[in-house]
Amino acid sequence: GGLRVVRADEFAEPKPPLPARGSMDRLRAEHAALRERITAGDAKAVERQRGLGKHTARERLDMLLDAGSFTEIDQFRRHQASGRKLTDHRPHTDGVVAGSGTIEGRRVFVYAQDFTVFGGSLGQAHAAKIRKVMDLALATGAPLIGLNDSGGARIQEGVLALHGYGGIFRRQVAASGVIPQISVVLGPCAGGAAYSPALADFTFMVRDTAKMYLTGPDVVAAVSGERVSHEELGGADVHGGQSGVATVVHDDEESCLADVRYLVSLLPANNLDPAPRLPERGAAGDERPRLAELVPPEPSKPYDMRDVVAELVDDGDFFEVHEGWAANVICALARIDGDVVGVVGNQPMVLSGVLDRAASQKAARFVRFCDAFAIPLVTLVDVPGFLPGTEQEHAGVIRHGAQLLYAYCEASVPRIQVILRKAYGGAYIVMDSRSIGTDLSLAWPTNEIAVMGAQGAVDVLFRRDLAAAADPERLRRELVAEYTEQLMHPHYAAERGLVDDVIDPAHTRAAVAGGLAMLRDKRVQGPRRKHGNVPL
Ligand code: HXC
Repeated sequence: GGLRVVRADEFAEPKPPLPARGSMDRLRAEHAALRERITAGDAKAVERQRGLGKHTARERLDMLLDAGSFTEIDQFRRHQASGRKLTDHRPHTDGVVAGSGTIEGRRVFVYAQDFTVFGGSLGQAHAAKIRKVMDLALATGAPLIGLNDSGGARIQEGVLALHGYGGIFRRQVAASGVIPQISVVLGPCAGGAAYSPALADFTFMVRDTAKMYLTGPDVVAAVSGERVSHEELGGADVHGGQSGVATVVHDDEESCLADVRYLVSLLPANNLDPAPRLPERGAAGDERPRLAELVPPEPSKPYDMRDVVAELVDDGDFFEVHEGWAANVICALARIDGDVVGVVGNQPMVLSGVLDRAASQKAARFVRFCDAFAIPLVTLVDVPGFLPGTEQEHAGVIRHGAQLLYAYCEASVPRIQVILRKAYGGAYIVMDSRSIGTDLSLAWPTNEIAVMGAQGAVDVLFRRDLAAAADPERLRRELVAEYTEQLMHPHYAAERGLVDDVIDPAHTRAAVAGGLAMLRDKRVQGPRRKHGNVPL
């Protein structure tokens, strides 16, 4: 028994041996060798990746970012999970290369899933890395770009993998309208993983390699007996042309990533910063006589609205979204006099430029994007109306048209409407008319704004008179002429203040540039509310 006196140094940690001479060099060399091994990746898996026609995650980041600008975060991160094929296999990076770099000198945050590690599948550590760069992007107000190439939720990590996805989706929604989000699909993107590109502002896909679906061909076959290939079920052309899931489709990774760089050059870093401006071009004095030649004066003769856009914008350059989907409306980002604008235009070349479900949805989402990021809107109107028919009505064209209406009504950015020719009925109202809040309405002398075209109007108004007439055709001709002269003459809306000016087509670029300058400081304070209830 008895007390023992304890000396303080008995508790001291054993002292590490003094470092041997030269060990700093050894540690540095070991560290450098490990980094090199991680960066090089598994040679066989890399070879397989190339065999699939794909670049590695690091090569993709090299193509996307300014040379030498990439700073990697969490390169040494490994999963802490256990179980078969996990405990003894803990590769660094955990299948995703994450960090930050620049595009044309402007900061972006990025992650690139690495299919050579666990098939790019998403486990707990992988998800935490993505969340970390998302948090940094949001905190610093910089765009987020995700390169997807993944087998989806890492099956062995179970619910934790699902939980990892949920945390990413939640951050995407929190960042929506605050920082631009771009998803680039460069391989499989299956199951719930597809919701990440779906939540992004822009989704790029590459033909042959990119695939997106909630359930793959095997499950489809098991459930319904339907046999379908990966490409037919969820390839780039399906999503770029039919479903509208892909915003832009490319043939190869090089052109795809170069296009992402072009897009980023047009986007603000966040919702508080302006989009990058280039020096003015003197557009206010720029006459474009070709505009008057491009558009035939006959209201139903087709032309390509993209030619009009090219003539209006700086250098004829624009970034078109959903080129292959709902082509009856075109939506594009471009510059006018150095300022980034969003252009929405009816496309008379496709379905006569009619508005239908898909076109309404496409334009609505684009208008909302521009509004969220303070990009002014220029709307080019040449629209015969909404597409009639049971297919459209039964599938909810009313709901989708309402989305576009809602998007415009809500938009508080500078808004300029240019009416080139027809603007009939509900479609006139929806295409950024004075009544729903356009700031500046311009019309060409070819404008025809009315509830409906003259023929249809005369049929409705004078059916009985025409039936009773001795010479119905003559009466119809007279009535059509009268209707056109009284209600559809080029200054009808301008005389009533619903159009602010009737302009020479050649003067359109100058007038729009002047309007943008006039509206630059526009501010709108809406009423307080949690959020509106947009008809989804
Ligand atoms: C763990 C996976 C994986 C996954 C692929 N791998 N997907 N590991 N979890 N989800 C591994 C493979 O075991 C293989 O490992 C390597 O990645 C390469 O895969 P392969 O099958 O050899 O490649 P390939 O033939 O090109 O086929 C790619 C594929 C296929 C089509 C993606 O791997 C596949 O069908 N994977 C499962 C897809 C899936 O059902 N995921 C869950 C979806 S549900 P080795 O060691 O052999 O190299 C989901 C829910 C998300 O994601 C929910 C969010 C709410």
